[in-house]
Amino acid sequence: MNARPEAASQPIRLADYRAPAWRVERVELDFDLGIDATEVSAKLLLRRDPAQDEPLRLDGEELELLSIALDGQPLPASAYRHIPGGLEVDGARDGSVLETRVRLHPAANTALEGLYLSGPRESGFLLTQCEAQGFRHITWFPDRPDVQSIYTVTLRADRARFPVLLAGGNPDGAGELDGGRHWARFADPHPRPSYLFALVAGRLEKIERDYRTADGRDVQLKIWAEADAIGRCDYAMDALQRSMRWDEQAYGRNYDLDVFHVVATHDFNMGAMENKGLNIFNAKCLLADPDSSTDDEYRRVESVIAHEYFHNWSGNRVTCRDWFQLSLKEGFTVFRDQSFSADMNSAPLKRIEDVSLLRRAQFPEDAGPLAHPVRPAEYSEINNFYTATVYEKGAELVRMLAGRLGAAGFRRGTDLYFSRNDGRAATLEDFLAALGEANGIDLTPYLAWYGQAGTPRLKARGAYDAARREYVLTLSQHTPASHDQSRKQPLPIPVKLALFGADGRMLPLHLDGQAVGTEAVVVLDETEQDFVFRDVAEHPVPSLLRGFSAPVALECDYTPAELALLLTHDPDGFNRWEAGQQLALRAYDALRDGAGPRAVDTWCDALAGLFDDARLDAALLADLLTPPGEIELAERESTVDPARIHALRQQLQQQLATRIGGARLEARYRALAAQATAALDAASQASRRLKQRVLQLLALVDPAGASEHAAVQYRDAPGMTDRLGALAVLALHDATRSAGPLAHYRSRYANDPLALDKWFALQAQLPGEGALARVQALEADPAFTLKNPNRARAVLGTFASGNPTGFHRTDGASYRMYAERLLALDALNPQIAARLATVFNGWQRLEPQRREAARAALAGLAGRDGLSRNLTEILGNMLKA
Ligand code: TRP
Ligand code: ZN
Repeated sequence: MNARPEAASQPIRLADYRAPAWRVERVELDFDLGIDATEVSAKLLLRRDPAQDEPLRLDGEELELLSIALDGQPLPASAYRHIPGGLEVDGARDGSVLETRVRLHPAANTALEGLYLSGPRESGFLLTQCEAQGFRHITWFPDRPDVQSIYTVTLRADRARFPVLLAGGNPDGAGELDGGRHWARFADPHPRPSYLFALVAGRLEKIERDYRTADGRDVQLKIWAEADAIGRCDYAMDALQRSMRWDEQAYGRNYDLDVFHVVATHDFNMGAMENKGLNIFNAKCLLADPDSSTDDEYRRVESVIAHEYFHNWSGNRVTCRDWFQLSLKEGFTVFRDQSFSADMNSAPLKRIEDVSLLRRAQFPEDAGPLAHPVRPAEYSEINNFYTATVYEKGAELVRMLAGRLGAAGFRRGTDLYFSRNDGRAATLEDFLAALGEANGIDLTPYLAWYGQAGTPRLKARGAYDAARREYVLTLSQHTPASHDQSRKQPLPIPVKLALFGADGRMLPLHLDGQAVGTEAVVVLDETEQDFVFRDVAEHPVPSLLRGFSAPVALECDYTPAELALLLTHDPDGFNRWEAGQQLALRAYDALRDGAGPRAVDTWCDALAGLFDDARLDAALLADLLTPPGEIELAERESTVDPARIHALRQQLQQQLATRIGGARLEARYRALAAQATAALDAASQASRRLKQRVLQLLALVDPAGASEHAAVQYRDAPGMTDRLGALAVLALHDATRSAGPLAHYRSRYANDPLALDKWFALQAQLPGEGALARVQALEADPAFTLKNPNRARAVLGTFASGNPTGFHRTDGASYRMYAERLLALDALNPQIAARLATVFNGWQRLEPQRREAARAALAGLAGRDGLSRNLTEILGNMLKA
C-alpha cells in the first residue's frame, strides 16, 4: 500500500457538505491488545438515509483487513473493494450489521495518531488519539463527527503487561481469561462521534476522588499516570473539581457518567484531548509540583483541565456537524476556560495574558500566508486548522457575543443552545440562532466575523466642542485584504469605552439623550460612524475598547501625556496595561527613528513613577514593565530585520532600567527575595513574577550584581519558578557562571522529562552568533530525540520562535538546518512537522537577504518527494503568496 496515498488529494470544501448517507446506530469494538500487533473487531449496526442512494463507504487508513462479514455472512472479495482512503461494500441495507477484523501495529506508529505506544516497548503503555481523523486508523468506519453512535468497547490483554484497561463510558464488566489474560468492558449511553473514542492500556497508577454533581450523580474521578509521576497529579485533581463545580454554577452543566478518567502521557501531539469519559493529557498540561513546575505551568494545568472537562458539553454532548465548525467547540470552550481562569485567579491579568497571546500568535497568522477565517471555507489537512485563529480568535468572537447579550442573556442563550442541540452535531449558525432567539436579538450580523480572515483596523478620532459641551467620537474600520479574499465587509465591532477628565476621573456619559453611567458600549457596524456624547464638561481622554472588547487593532492618535494619564488612572486593568503598551510602542518607534528622547522619557517616567506604588498589584507591575514582544514589534514593520528589532527592544528596556535606577531595582529585588516561598497563592505568585522582571531589568544596568543574585537564587530556590528564572538570567548574562548550575540542573532532573524540556528550551533561546552551534550541541545530548513532540518543540520550536537573533542568521544556516529537521520529523510525525513549519510565517516580510535564504530553505523542502499532506499544505500556502 502507498504509505501516503492522500498527499496530492483535493481540498475539502464547506460548500460540498452532504449529510451522511449511512449512519452507525451502535458499535461494538473488541480489542486484542499487543504492543507489536493489536487486532480490532468491529460490529456496526448500520442505518441508511432513505433519501440518498449512495453505496456504503467506510473510512480506513493503513488497516490490515483480516475478515469482513455482512449480516453474519463472510463477504466474498467481489463484494467489497478498497478505494482511496477507504472501503466500499456492496449489499448493505438499512439495519444491516457489518463485522470487520483488522490488525494494527501500535509500536510502529510514530505519528501518535490512532493507536500507539507511549514510552519504551518493555514498560510503555498503549493509548489512542482520534481527533480529528484518527479513528480511521483503528477500524473501518464513517469517520465524521455527524455520525454519532452508542459505543460498547471490550479490551483484552495480558494481565501482567497491561494490568490497567480503560475506555470511555461506564464500566460494564471485567474478568479473567485463559493464559494470564483479562478483559474489561465499557458502555457509553451517550451517542458520540468517532473522534471521541479512546482507550488506554498498560501499567499505570491512579489517584481517586469522589464527586457528587449538583444534580446528584456520584462520580469517581480518577487520574492515571506512570508510577514516577503519580505523585504530581493532586493539583490537577483539585483543578478538576473546581472546574466541575464552576460549570454547574456558570452554565448549569453537570457531568453525565459514573466515572471520569484522566490520563497523562509524555508522547502527545497537542495539549490534551477531551475523549468522552477518558481525557488524555500531555503530561506537560497535567503534572505539577513546586519542585518541577513553574507558576505559569500551574495556571496552564488548571486551564487545560478545565478546557477538556468543559468540552464534555461544548463538544461532546453537542458536537460539530463537520470540521469547518471546529470553532463551535474550540472557540466556545476556550472562552469558557478563560472565564473560569479569570474567576479562579485575577481577571485583568488573565485578560492581559490572553490578549498578548492573541497578538503574538493569532494576529500574525491572520496577517500572513496562513490566514484563514475562524470558519475556513476549505482545507486539505484538517489537523492544520487547529490554529490560533480557530481557538483564540474564535474565543474572542464568543466573548463579543456574550458581551452583547450580558451575563444573564448569554446564560439564557447557552441554556437554549445546549438543550436544543443535545446529542446533535451542530453548526455555528445553530449557536448564533440559539443565543439570539433566547434573547429576541438577531445575531446574524456577527456571522460575518466567522467567514472573513484578517484583523480589522479600528481607527478612532475624537473632537470636542467646548461651546456645545459635545464630544464626537468617529470610529472607522478597515480590514486589509488577505490572500484568500481581496474585499472585506464591515463587521459589527463593539467598543466598550469611558471618558476621562484631566484629573483622571471618569466622566458621566450621555448617549442618545440618556445617562448611561461612566462606561458604555457603542457598536460600529458600518465603515464609519460618529458617536455623539453630550454634556461633556471638558475635553476628555477616551479609554477605548476596554477589556479588549473586540479582536481588532486600534489606532488612535493619543498624545503621550494622554496615554500616561490612562496608564496611571484607568481602573480597567486591561486598558491600563494597554496604555502602557501603547506608550512603549511610541518609545520604541522614537528610538528606531532617532526621533529624540521625548517618547522614551514619557514611558520610562510613567513606569518609574509607578514602580514603588504599593497599591499596584505586583504581577500587573511586572507586566507593565514588559514592553511588547519582538513578534508584535515585527508585525508593525513592512520590512523585518529581527536582529535590529531585538537590539532596539533591549535598548528600550535598558533605558527603562536606567531610569528606574540600579539602586531601586536592587532594593526591590532584595525585598522580594526576602519573601521567597514555594506557596502558590496569588500574592506569592505575583511577587515571584515581579522579582523575575526586576532581576532581568537589574541585569541590564548591573550584570555582575544581577548574576550574583541569580547564583544565590538558583542555589536557594524553594521552587521551580525561582530556580528556572535564576538559571535563565545567569545563562543570558554570565556564560561562565552559568555552566555549573546548568550542569547541576541537567543531572538533578535527568529523569524528569518535563523539567529537562525546560533546560533544553532555556538554552535554545540564548541569543547571538553561537546560538546555532549551541542548538546543534543540544541535539547531540543523549536525551534529545525528534520522536518526542515535547522535546522537539523544546529545542527546535523554541529556537525558531524564541530566538530571533539565532534563528534569523543572515547567512541562512539556521533556516537550512531547520528545514532538514522538518524533513526528518515529517517522516515520523507529520502533524508536528507541519506545526513547526508555521514558524516561517511572515518570511516574506524579512529583509531581502534573509528573505531569500528563507525562501530557498522552504522551496528546497517543498521540492522533496514523499512529504505528508500536512507539511505539503503548509509549505504550499507559505510559498503561494
Ligand atoms: N480537541 C483538543 C482540544 O483542544 C485538541 C486536539 C485536536 C488534539 N487534535 C488533537 C489533541 C490531536 C491531541 C492530538 O482540547
Ligand atoms: Zn479544545
